[in-house]
Amino acid sequence: MGFPQTRPRRLRTSAAVRRLVSETRLHPAELILPMFVKEGLTEPRPIASLPGIVQHSRESLRKAAAEAVQAGVGGIMLYGIPTAKDATGSGGIDPGGILNVAIRDVVSEVGDATVVMSDLCLDEFTSHGHCGVLTPDGTVDNDATLAAYAEMAIAQAAAGVHMVGPSGMMDGQVGVVRQALDGAGYADVSILAYAAKYASAFYGPFRDAVESSLDGDRRTYQQDPANLRESLREVELDVAEGADIVMVKPALAYLDVIAAVRDRLDVPVAAYQVSGEYAMAEAAAANGWLDRERIMMETLHSIRRAGASIILTYWATEAARLLR
Ligand code: PBG
Repeated sequence: MGFPQTRPRRLRTSAAVRRLVSETRLHPAELILPMFVKEGLTEPRPIASLPGIVQHSRESLRKAAAEAVQAGVGGIMLYGIPTAKDATGSGGIDPGGILNVAIRDVVSEVGDATVVMSDLCLDEFTSHGHCGVLTPDGTVDNDATLAAYAEMAIAQAAAGVHMVGPSGMMDGQVGVVRQALDGAGYADVSILAYAAKYASAFYGPFRDAVESSLDGDRRTYQQDPANLRESLREVELDVAEGADIVMVKPALAYLDVIAAVRDRLDVPVAAYQVSGEYAMAEAAAANGWLDRERIMMETLHSIRRAGASIILTYWATEAARLLR
């Protein structure tokens, strides 16, 4: 037993004192809700591997977006699932494509009450499921993909999006998107860059959610889970190219990356608690093996504590309500 003053437990004796000395506080405004909308649906459709999350119809998307705003969430990230896909992912660029239509719907529903964001990537729209267009030999063509991203960014901005989320991990994507937006008169549309994005098995349920047609993997463009320094390089490049916010993805298995990025840079750092992280907790909770709400709050606090001030999470609306 040491001196009397060496008793850290004194600051844990009551809920009031624990609240007083809490080092990390979550706020609904820091949470972003990812949402899926599928072309042609008249009713929302459950996603088996993401219990509680649905593919929305246009109508149910508006309603759920309004509920998220009511709960106080800081942002909404939209993903579209088209009825038809093609080799170039043209449905992502078409102003009448599901994602662009959904952006218009949500912006008209919620206005400026939250930040409306959209995934800027071709994978939901390509018949082969890759994040870009392919060369004749089947590899992802970086620069041809950049040209498509530029057009997609302008289409999303024209639909009224506040922030775009380039997520394809093509080299130079942030610079090309920034230039395209500025050139088309959308200098105020900001960029949330998926800057350090790993080739992760935690995206499994998301691929169900967007009915991905990918056969193979994304290891030639997403990062190797073994690497940390590579992330710092990726993030620094994105900031140099004009990223307003940088994101690390996934979150829980990459807390060290979040902390390193936070330490190195002065832009806001976001983290994506991805589909597999959510599914893992939900599945264990459904079996009675874990306490769902406590896992939700513990994981969100740990991501916040690691240094992310913005968190994308499928629990955003529910967590926001619990935090109010
Ligand atoms: C690509 C994209 C993916 C996710 C977000 N954007 C899938 C991928 O890279 O394969 C995954 C998000 C999640 O798992 O929740 N458009």
